[in-house]
Order: sequence, then C-alpha cells, then structure tokens
Amino acid sequence: MGQTLTEKILSDHLVEGELEPGEEIGIEIDQVLTQDTTGTLVWLQFEALGLEEVQTELAAQYCDHQTYQFDFKNTDDHRFLRSAAGTFGAHFSRPGNGICHNVHKENFAAPGKTMLGSDSHTPTPGGLGELAIGSGGLDVAVAMGGGAYYIDMPEVVNVRLEGELPEWATAKDVILEMLRRLSVKGGVGKVLEYTGPGVETLSVPERTTITNMGTELGATSSIFPTDEKTKDYLARQGREDAFEEVGPDEDAEYHDEIVVDLSELEPLIAEPSMPDNVVPVREAAGQDVEQVMIGSCTNGGYEDILPAAKMLEGREIDKKTEMIVAPGSKQASEMLARDGWAAELMAAGVNFSESTCGACIGIGHVPASDSVSLRTFNRNFEGRSGLEDDNVYLCSPEVAAAAALAGEIVDPRDLADELGDLDAPGFELPDAYDGSKADLIAPDEAVDDGLVKGPNIGDVPLKDPLDSKLEGPTLLKMEDNITTDHIIPATQDILMYRSNIPKLSEFTLSRVDESFADRALESDGGFLVAGENYGQGSSREHAALCPMFLGVEGVLAQSFARIHKANLFNFGLLPLEIDEDTYAKIEQGDDIEIVDDVAEAVRSGQEEFTIRVNDDWEATGHLDASAREREILADGGKLSHTKKQYEQE
Ligand code: F3S
Repeated sequence: MGQTLTEKILSDHLVEGELEPGEEIGIEIDQVLTQDTTGTLVWLQFEALGLEEVQTELAAQYCDHQTYQFDFKNTDDHRFLRSAAGTFGAHFSRPGNGICHNVHKENFAAPGKTMLGSDSHTPTPGGLGELAIGSGGLDVAVAMGGGAYYIDMPEVVNVRLEGELPEWATAKDVILEMLRRLSVKGGVGKVLEYTGPGVETLSVPERTTITNMGTELGATSSIFPTDEKTKDYLARQGREDAFEEVGPDEDAEYHDEIVVDLSELEPLIAEPSMPDNVVPVREAAGQDVEQVMIGSCTNGGYEDILPAAKMLEGREIDKKTEMIVAPGSKQASEMLARDGWAAELMAAGVNFSESTCGACIGIGHVPASDSVSLRTFNRNFEGRSGLEDDNVYLCSPEVAAAAALAGEIVDPRDLADELGDLDAPGFELPDAYDGSKADLIAPDEAVDDGLVKGPNIGDVPLKDPLDSKLEGPTLLKMEDNITTDHIIPATQDILMYRSNIPKLSEFTLSRVDESFADRALESDGGFLVAGENYGQGSSREHAALCPMFLGVEGVLAQSFARIHKANLFNFGLLPLEIDEDTYAKIEQGDDIEIVDDVAEAVRSGQEEFTIRVNDDWEATGHLDASAREREILADGGKLSHTKKQYEQE
C-alpha cells in the first residue's frame, strides 16, 4: 500500500511506535521555532537541561507578539532571547522583523522536514511540504535538546482541490470554505493533506494561507506536496537549494476525502465571533465598517498586500473608515517601500504598523465600541481584538480593501461593477524577494555577551524525583470546570511575569482564593482537590508549573482536561481521579496521605492508589497514565526526566 506524504515524512523521522491512527509515536524534529511570549520559558527550560548547544538542524527565535515594548519587562525578554539564541546556537529575529511564521517561511521552511513550534500557527510552512506541528514550550525545549516529540498518530485526510480560482476568489476563501464545511472542530486529530489538480494553480504564499488556518479547523497540521511552484518560490527567495520533491504515492490511502472545487468559490467572510461563521460576502454586505486591517501570519505577505495596494492606487478610502496595514514581515514592508506601493497605500489614507502580531492579540488598534472591524487575520474570537463585545469579521485582502473604499462590507465584484474601472488585482509574486536580512541574526553572527537576564527573568525550578511517601494538607477544594485561567490568569499585568516563575506563582489560583499561594508555600507540600474537568481551557504550561513551584504534590479530581493532565505529568504532579463520594467527603484542610510507595507504584504501572484522609478514612484514587508518562512523573517531570536521560547517554 502506498503512503501519504504525511506518512512518508513521519516514517523518515520515526524513532518509536507505529503509524497507526491513535497510537503514540515518537518523531525526530529537524527544525524548531519559538516566539517571544513562549520563548523565554523554552530557553530557561533548555538551560535547565544542562545542554550547551541546540541539537536540531535549525532553531529560530522570533520576537513578534509584544514588539511594542511597552514595559521594560518586554524589552528585557527580547534581550534575553537574543542572548539565549546566541549562546545556544539559534537564529534570532529582532523585534519588528516580522511574525514568526512569515519570517520562517521566507528564510527556513524546507520540504520534507519536521518542525515543532511553540505557537499555534506553526503548521504554516506546510505550504512548502514541511510537516510542522504546534506544541507546548517544554516539548520544544526537549526537541531542541535532541529528544523525540511524542504525539498520537493523526488520521490523514485528503483534501482534493479541483479547478482554478475565479477572479476575486482567493486562497483565503479556500480555507474559509473549509471552515464553513467542517467547523472549528473538523480537523481535530487530523493532518489535512492537499492534493489534486487544483494544487498547481496555487503559489506557495497562497498555500501557506491555507495551511496557516488549518489551525482554526483544529488540525494537527496541514501540508501540500511540492512542485515547480515550490521550486520557483524558493528560487525567488534565493533558497533553491532547499527544494526537494515530496508528495504522496499514487496509491496512497487516506482516512477520508474532501473535494473542493476552486472554480466554484466566491468571496467569503467569517462573521463574528468564530472563524467558522462563514457566509458569502454578499450576504453580509451593507454594514458600515469603521476599521480595516490587513496583516497577520495569514495574509501579511508582500503578495497579500499587493492586491489591496493595486485596488487602492489613485483612490482614497472612505472618510468614516480607518485602514491599517501591518505587514507580516519586514521583508514585505521593505519591498513595498522600495517599489512604491507603500507610498500608494499611504496616499490612499492607509497607516502602516510595524511588522508584528499586534492587533491580532489585542495589542494596539482596538476597534471602537459598537463598530465593525474587517481583518485579514485568522481568528475573531470574542474579545481577542481587545474590545469585549467586538464585531470582527475575517476576509481576504481584496474584500478588506473593497470595504475600505466603500466604507461598508461589499462584495468586491459588486464594487467593481459600480466603479467601472476596478480590475481584479490577481495574485502575483515579485521577481525576487530582495529584502535585507539585517534583522535576522545567524548563530555565527551572534553578539557574544552570555546569557543576559534582567530582573524579571528567573530560573526554572526543577522538581526532585517522586518520593515514596506523599502527604500533606488539602490546600484548596475547588468545584467543577476549573480552567487554566483560574489557575494562572492570562491578563497582561500577570502574564508579563511568565519568565519569572517565583513572581508569577504568587497569582496561582488567586481567582479562587487570594491567600492560596502564601498558604501553599507555608505548608511546603499538599494537594489540590477538584470536581469534574479540572484544568480545561488553554494548554498553558504555567498552570502546572506554578503549583509545582509552590510545592503542590498532586491533584485529586473527579476528572481532568486532557492537555492539562499531560502538563501535570510534565511538571511532576500526581493526577489521581477520585469518585463523587470521595470528592464530596474531603474538606479543605484535611490531611491526605497516599499510603502506597508512590514512586515504586507509579513506575510499576499500578492504577489504584489508597488515599488516607485525616488518618481516619480511606478512599481510592485512580492513575490513568501511559508507561512513558509514568516514567516522566516518577522522575519529577519532563525536564528532570529528560535531563536524566541525557546524563545516562
Ligand atoms: Fe501572531 Fe496572530 Fe499569527 S498572534 S502568530 S499573527 S495568529
């Protein structure tokens, strides 16, 4: 039986397991990517592993999320990241040089490679045939140290593209159509592999718009085969050497197939406040638009901005509308400036932002209250723009530019009819991507100033191996559905301490009980007790790391959210499931003792643990963990576990 492209790349990199959907596999990672909000912890963890040099073929550190440096802590983070990249051998992209996925696509993405990145849109380079997966920072740190990345083997779905895009329909409409059909959950546990005759009609930047937003479908990754278009794009970037032909076998078998006829697509738009709320633009037409933004890792390329610039050339945007272009990379900004398009856009009434995520995460350009903002971004979750009850629509640059001209949502085809002289701009690549690389610092160009840690950068705590005896008080009893936001709030004033674990830990569970952190530190050990679905929400590792720093030994809950449970293993906290009666009976302050020889029991695969409460009554806790998770837990978490492995080698 033939293999899919995904299976081929995975087989080439397989170090453990078999390629059976749902089975855990370990793969070798070629490239890693981190950005500024996740990178500081990644490097602190890498430092804690005791390694001197990055072991992957390539590592790249970008500064894109908080480039405005509104607090010295951001600037300190960036300086630390520069010094860490230089010390350990990673490329460093200065703040303002662009969004990680754009800069990576331009400079490093390569067919047939595996990549791991601590950002959710890491799969973007799938448009060049690279299998790229987003993960937690700790996984990235371990991969940089040469460790395998473990993941459940995804199902591979064939997305067959047929036909060719008509005028005014774009790659953004392809992925919006996928979202319309499959919803934001449609890709979970899957790799979406694009095939069919429609592939060769799309350039690499169009493909990366599609692979980028595979994340909104929940997909593990999205990937295209490579062809002449890939070779051509790499040549224009001056990287033809990176080309390799990769693709599925002709008789490859897929788990499922979806057919998209490109020729049937029309301009689409995602209405507030979900990326899968997709309708044809003509159905949303007529609403006033106060803000238009072109940018982000989805549509921030030179080629994405060019169609809008052509549409706006010699015209002015509507008087009640503001329009901002935030190029995805400085390469794009510089080229737009050199060839005069930046001036055309400015003359039309457009303002330029530095190349940053910025408004995509609510940093700057917050929409006015009770107004419509049209953006070429990938997410419009309520409140993400920085305004709680916002009205953010997602669309292509063409639809965005049409709205800026009309001052309202309009199907660009209708606007073209009305204006009479507005041609479909098409999608073209520049002859050569000739931006400077001054802001991209290679490891051999690094400033040799050691690791520079400002006052807000602390060390990462390492946990000792699990004790044979675990005992301590019930530090906090919580209800059902405690989220990672309850455990560590993600507000700006708190998250700026993400590289300072002692300080950040002071906020642990403060939304549930303000005195928690003090009590936990004082008691030097203890347990958390919770109802159903403990740790739901984001994959935030700090929600396990901070309780660990405060000395929490384990969590007894009726059930755990999947990712948080994995994080509890990764940071050495024992997650035991308890039944409803036990939960009801345990009170805050009760003394808990795990009667078994815990370290031994965890390693040996024991599933039932005896919990003695107040030396008075006993209950059973259930440990559901794979052999690998048990070893990690017993060694004191993934960092200690990995460090031990390195020391044994
Ligand atoms: Fe940045 Fe938004 Fe993309 S935060 S990485 S531009 S999804």
